[in-house]
Amino acid sequence: MSEIKVTVPATSANLGPGFDCLGTALTLYNQFTFSSIEPAEVETEMKIAVTGVEAQKLSTNKSNLLYQSFTKLYQYLGKKPPHVQIEIHLGFPLARGLGSSATAIVGGLVGANQLAGNPLSTQELIKLAIAIEGHPDNVVPALLGNCQLSVGQDENWQFCQIDWHENIIPVVAIPDFELSTEEARSVLPDKVSRSEAIYNVSRLGLLLQALQNDRGDWLQIAMEDKLHQPYRQTLIKGYEVVKSAAISSGAYGMVISGAGPTLLALTNLTQAEVVTHSMKEAWKTQGVEAKVISLRVDTQGTKTLQIQA
Ligand code: HSE
Repeated sequence: MSEIKVTVPATSANLGPGFDCLGTALTLYNQFTFSSIEPAEVETEMKIAVTGVEAQKLSTNKSNLLYQSFTKLYQYLGKKPPHVQIEIHLGFPLARGLGSSATAIVGGLVGANQLAGNPLSTQELIKLAIAIEGHPDNVVPALLGNCQLSVGQDENWQFCQIDWHENIIPVVAIPDFELSTEEARSVLPDKVSRSEAIYNVSRLGLLLQALQNDRGDWLQIAMEDKLHQPYRQTLIKGYEVVKSAAISSGAYGMVISGAGPTLLALTNLTQAEVVTHSMKEAWKTQGVEAKVISLRVDTQGTKTLQIQA
């Protein structure tokens, strides 16, 4: 029997103006263990056990996204998936805008690829992951680590790692309510004006320079956005109050993490603790309990460990 352990980082997509193209990996992790088993050892072809944060919410049947992604890789190879036993350990909650779906997609593909003897390259895995998720900004940093800009041209993708200065600290405020990506995408308009496009293009350019050069003064305007946040913030109770609290306690800016409802502030080492405290307290005044943590950018991406039993 061979056992594969796959560790995949959480991700924060968009970072304000980088809607559907920019995202960073964070130092929070989900862990997936795959053990191939002989058909005679189990009645069904798969068995899933889940532990960790909000473990009871995850389905353990064939609709499980990790298992679906696992089988997709075998379909892609034109092979029958092996019987498998999967252990999932969740390090952060689902449906909060921290890329839990991306960890399942990447984890399932990478676990299957390892069990199959690594027939696919990282580039091929990324393409498959993007096709499953529908957008690249969570799955790419989840697989590669760091902050990644993804640019698609027809079927081809270019990925560009964005330097993130170590003085810039991401603080995530994770509320006790969920928001599905589907709902958060359904409120977005299909068309934007030229002035809105210019607003975002200019800020995205500035954001990349600000992250690289530790320019808090640039971050103050570069994290603003006109493509998704104005529509989504209405779905997040207390958004304005938490944003004011974060900024008045020393954050350069605050954005919706991915599709929300988690809110992400960027600050510096000196202010990180006070920003963390004030975001938590601000959300409490709105009747929302939140877990607020100061993190780092994950630089390793998905890690695998193979254990031969
Ligand atoms: N870019 C995607 C969105 C991320 O904002 O809808 C979803 O996790």
